[in-house]
Amino acid sequence: MSAVPVRLSSTTTDPSQVEADWLVVGIFEGSLTPALSAFDAKLGGAIAKIREAGDFQAKPNELLAIHSPTGIKAKRLLLVGLAKSEEASRASLHDAASSAVRRITGRKVTRVALLVPETPRVTFEQSVLAFGVGARQGSHGPGVRKTEPSRFSPDEIILVVPAGRNVEATVNRAAIEGDALTLARTLVNSPPCDLYPETFAAQIAEIARGSGIDVEIWDERRLEAEGMGAIVGIAQGSTRPARLAILRYNGGGSGTLAYVGKGVTFDSGGLSLKTNDQMLDMKCDMAGAAAAFAATVAIARLKLPINLLTVMPLVENMPSGYAVKLGDVLKSRNGKTIEILNTDAEGRVILADALAYAAEQKVSHIVDLATLTGAVMIALGTEIAGLMSNDDGWAGKVLGAIRQSGERAWQLPMDRDFEEALKSNVADCKNAPGVRYGGSITGGKFLEQFVNKIPWVHLDIAGPAWAEKESAAKDAGGTGAYVRSLIELAHVYAAR
Ligand code: BES
Ligand code: MN
Ligand code: ZN
Repeated sequence: MSAVPVRLSSTTTDPSQVEADWLVVGIFEGSLTPALSAFDAKLGGAIAKIREAGDFQAKPNELLAIHSPTGIKAKRLLLVGLAKSEEASRASLHDAASSAVRRITGRKVTRVALLVPETPRVTFEQSVLAFGVGARQGSHGPGVRKTEPSRFSPDEIILVVPAGRNVEATVNRAAIEGDALTLARTLVNSPPCDLYPETFAAQIAEIARGSGIDVEIWDERRLEAEGMGAIVGIAQGSTRPARLAILRYNGGGSGTLAYVGKGVTFDSGGLSLKTNDQMLDMKCDMAGAAAAFAATVAIARLKLPINLLTVMPLVENMPSGYAVKLGDVLKSRNGKTIEILNTDAEGRVILADALAYAAEQKVSHIVDLATLTGAVMIALGTEIAGLMSNDDGWAGKVLGAIRQSGERAWQLPMDRDFEEALKSNVADCKNAPGVRYGGSITGGKFLEQFVNKIPWVHLDIAGPAWAEKESAAKDAGGTGAYVRSLIELAHVYAAR
């Protein structure tokens, strides 16, 4: 399944001498930087004239194409707005690069060059990363099964940097991060007729082995034998058997980090069936596993000096004569019994086994990612993940890495009184709370029962994992959300 390879490289060639089909130049509001003024001089002051005439405001992601510019070697110039330089961030630069490249890739082009902006608020390394990964995001569309492609990845993306800058390591990271983002998006965009637990597991095994990661895939018999009654129970309504993918990357250093991702390849709701509107995007319900997997591949390719355990329970949630019923009780890996009162609260149930397994392996820290609740979108909208934790120190570290990567999350409270809603009359707990209020938190509280007090963060990514509509910087469909954050967190973990 591997994604279309796009070569990402850098050059210190003078921007006027760069040969490319397109040269993308970011412009901040206000006066041109000295470097851009020098470049504009070669253009005969074209950019300054356009700015003075008011034809380009440099608003966020604003685009202006200039064909056959004189005085430079690139065939076309694309100005992209970067807004105010004092408000620039890794996120704003990433979005600008993505918007520009999205616009260009409606036709086949070979070489796209981007001039990496220098701005006081963002380190140059972060600018290179943002522009490199953003350009990779913009070069890849969601049309995974179109017979006539409508988007064309360029063969080569070149980051133009000032002479004397050594950006080799950062460009390498951007290329690997770009691949990971594309991998996660492609997995999420794959139709559920092609991507189901067995095929997802097979792809994981193939790609991970190629990256030097140890892989174990547990099939339905092994899951049964290993006491993973929660995963087995949720999967039993489907003709597609469950899988558990366990990845180990041993890069060295103290402790082990664990990433756990929800991998429901299609969530019909089961017997608690969703409506058509609620179900139509539910191939996205494996976005947590896709992000955890893609980041793991990137971390191994970057050879980061950490130990990482990645656990992904893979199931399809379907109604049938075999399906788990309301009132059924499942027994999880850690011995806890779970009364199923809503088969649509399936993600937390399969994660129970996966988290219990990770905790058993004596990892030092856990992060799980899951498209767990619709309620998190009521609380935080579509762009921000809900973060829940049993350890404020670890939560702070994870939040810091998410912010640093230009992504967003917001911590929700985990007070004890939310646990009331999960008490069952017949079992140790129930999967669906008696009350709708605080639905994301009760989801987090359910999961907390399975981490055995190991420092843990739960990211409810139901909003950001999937874009219903396209926007300037983002295509519709799988977004690859939190791949960047998980790679950033691994860097933070390595440096601790
Ligand atoms: N996969 C859904 C959550 C979801 C909803 C993700 C919308 C992305 C977009 C999850 O399995 C689910 O159905 N959750 C229920 C939980 C409830 C039954 C306690 C929900 O949110 O309604
Ligand atoms: Mn569900
Ligand atoms: Zn689900």
